Amino acid sequence: MNYIKAFAPATVANVACGFDIFGFAVDEPGDVVELRRRDEPGIVITDILGDEGRLPRSATQNSVTVVMLKMLEHLKNFEFGCEVVLHKNMPLGSGMGSSAASAAAGVFALNEMLGAPFTRQQLLQFAVEGERIASGSAHADNVGPALIGGFVVIRSYHPLDIFQIPVPRELYCTLVHPDIEVNTKDARYILRNEVSLKNAISQMGNVAGLIAGLMQEDYSLISRSMVDVIIEPVRAILIPEFNEVKHAALEEGALGCSISGAGPSMFTLSKGKETAGRVGLAMQQTFAQAGIESQIHVSAINQDGPRVLERG
Ligand code: HSE
Repeated sequence: MNYIKAFAPATVANVACGFDIFGFAVDEPGDVVELRRRDEPGIVITDILGDEGRLPRSATQNSVTVVMLKMLEHLKNFEFGCEVVLHKNMPLGSGMGSSAASAAAGVFALNEMLGAPFTRQQLLQFAVEGERIASGSAHADNVGPALIGGFVVIRSYHPLDIFQIPVPRELYCTLVHPDIEVNTKDARYILRNEVSLKNAISQMGNVAGLIAGLMQEDYSLISRSMVDVIIEPVRAILIPEFNEVKHAALEEGALGCSISGAGPSMFTLSKGKETAGRVGLAMQQTFAQAGIESQIHVSAINQDGPRVLERG
């Protein structure tokens, strides 16, 4: 194979109560990576589109290529050479798993080009290194679902142990991205290191409730469990109008509403596409009343993860 073009989806990490342990993939937006074989060994970035020139062009500094270099190092493949074009289809610092989508698309495309020596689960070990480069922490709740699709639980980091759980078919996500930027590193820095026993108990109850609710298609339990007493209260201050937008979403019928990843995007889960659409408009209107423009993405939970768009 001399050429491949692959897509990897945006993701919603944390999903309210599951900081660093829950994440799911959506249908769109997502990043696209093109790899073209070249005769000389080594990986070079030839173009990045859609980042307004903000991402590093050096292969050893950009998460899309760092993860590919890790893979080649692991395979002790020092002969391989390719040119990389990255299409950034979502804003940086959006809370939609932008760096994870690039890293997942990168390792997925390279793996395909090499004849698939790794399973998607095995690709995770390389993809998390992209998160370390992008945000200083190798969290897997974006790269996990970006690579294997669906709703993913990170049961353990040491060793990495992730699995998918089934979700109701009628479950829709609304992602609303306000035109502001939050740096993931900063959004992690402001978090407290200690959690009170009272909050730990509430959070564990909600984590268990959300998993059971999703697996049993119990929408009321999903709704009662989409509560984050630890992270959301601290990070909400980074998002103007957070409480008003959340209120508008719940009034319109969303099952729950919280911060997508480290923010500033906010997400909801709803029963049915139509409700999810109305919820998005209500949220957008509330941001607009405060003079903040926003984009809405409505999608089912993407069960497939990355996909090949073209090969040759
Ligand atoms: N779990 C991570 C965080 C996701 O909330 O910092 C970042 O996208």
